[in-house]
Amino acid sequence: MTQKKPKMKRIAVLTSGGDAPGMNAAIRAVVRSGIAAGTEVCGIWSGYEGLLEGNVLQLSASSVANTIQRGGTWLKTSRSDEFRTKAGRKKAAHVLDHAGIEGLVVIGGDGSYRGALALHEEHGVRVVGVPGTIDNDIRGTDDTIGFDTAINTAVEMIDRIRDTASSHNRIFIVEVMGRASGNIALAVGLSCGAEFVMIPEVKTKIQDIHVGLQRSIARGKLSSILVAAEGSALGGANEIAAKLKVLGHDAKVAILGHTQRGGSPTAHDRILASRMGQLAVESLLSGKPEGMIASVKGEMKHLSLLAVNSKTTTAQAAKRMEDLVRILAI
Ligand code: F6P
Repeated sequence: MTQKKPKMKRIAVLTSGGDAPGMNAAIRAVVRSGIAAGTEVCGIWSGYEGLLEGNVLQLSASSVANTIQRGGTWLKTSRSDEFRTKAGRKKAAHVLDHAGIEGLVVIGGDGSYRGALALHEEHGVRVVGVPGTIDNDIRGTDDTIGFDTAINTAVEMIDRIRDTASSHNRIFIVEVMGRASGNIALAVGLSCGAEFVMIPEVKTKIQDIHVGLQRSIARGKLSSILVAAEGSALGGANEIAAKLKVLGHDAKVAILGHTQRGGSPTAHDRILASRMGQLAVESLLSGKPEGMIASVKGEMKHLSLLAVNSKTTTAQAAKRMEDLVRILAI
C-alpha cells in the first residue's frame, strides 16, 4: 500500500507563556502524530524567544519517550517582548522559512495565540494553537491543558489547611492563581466547600464577608476558608486580610502560588493534551491555514484563532462563570 504524501514536509512545535502540567503530553502527541503521518517534526526551544534565536531541533519519536507524566515543559517556555513587535515576528517568519518549517503548533495561552495569529496574518505562516494554561481562560474552549491538575493541587492544599483551620478555630484566606480570571478560584472554592470565593468578575464587598463571618460565629462556626483569586476585585489575600482586620477579624493568609503550576499532570490533562495535540497536527496537515483546538462539550474541534476575541465565546465564558457563581451560592 502506498502511503499518502503529507501536505507538509516539516512542522514544528513550541510551548509559550506560563507552563502548565500536560504540556509535555501535548508535545508528545504532536511529535508522534506528525511522524506517524510521514512529516518531520521539530521542537523550538524556549517558545517565541527561542524561535527568534533560531533554536530549532529535529525530534524523533524517542525524543518524547518518558515525558507524558512529567510536569512543566521540557521544551522550555518564555514570554517574549521582541515577538510582540512586528520586526520580531518578521524575524521569526524568516527563521521558520530558513528551517523549512511549513506549519507551527503553538501550545500556550491567549497571549501566545494572539502572537500566532499575528504571525499568520502578517507573514502567512500556517499556525494552530493548543490551549495550555492553568487559568482556563481561553475563549472558545471549555477546557485548557493544566487546569485540572492545578485545581486538584489547590484542592489538596486547601483540604490540609481546612484541618488546621478547624483545629485552631481560624479564618484562612487562600490565594489561588488565575490572573484576571476567577475560574481556578471558583472551581477550587466549590470543591473545597469554601465559605467565600472572591473573583475578579464579581464585585464582592468586604462588608458582605464581614456579615457572613459574624453570622457563622453566631451559630458556633469558628473556622472558615475564604478562597481569593489573585486578581479578585477586593485584591489579593494579604489586602483582604488587612481589610478584615479593620473589621475585627484575624485571618491567616496562604498563597498557593506556583505550586499550582507544577507537578505531574492528572490523567484528565494527559488525555486532553494527547487528543488536542493529535488534532492540531491533523488540522495543519489537512491544509488549514490557521486555527486553534478547542474542547467543546467533550468533543475536540478546530476553530479559527479569531474565536479568541469573538463576542459569542466571550458570552459563553461569562455564562459558564455565572453558572458556577450560582452553584456556589447554594
Ligand atoms: O497564566 C498562568 C499564570 O500562572 C497566572 O495564573 C499567573 O497570574 C501568571 O501565570 C504568573 O506568571 P509568572 O509565572 O510569569 O509570574
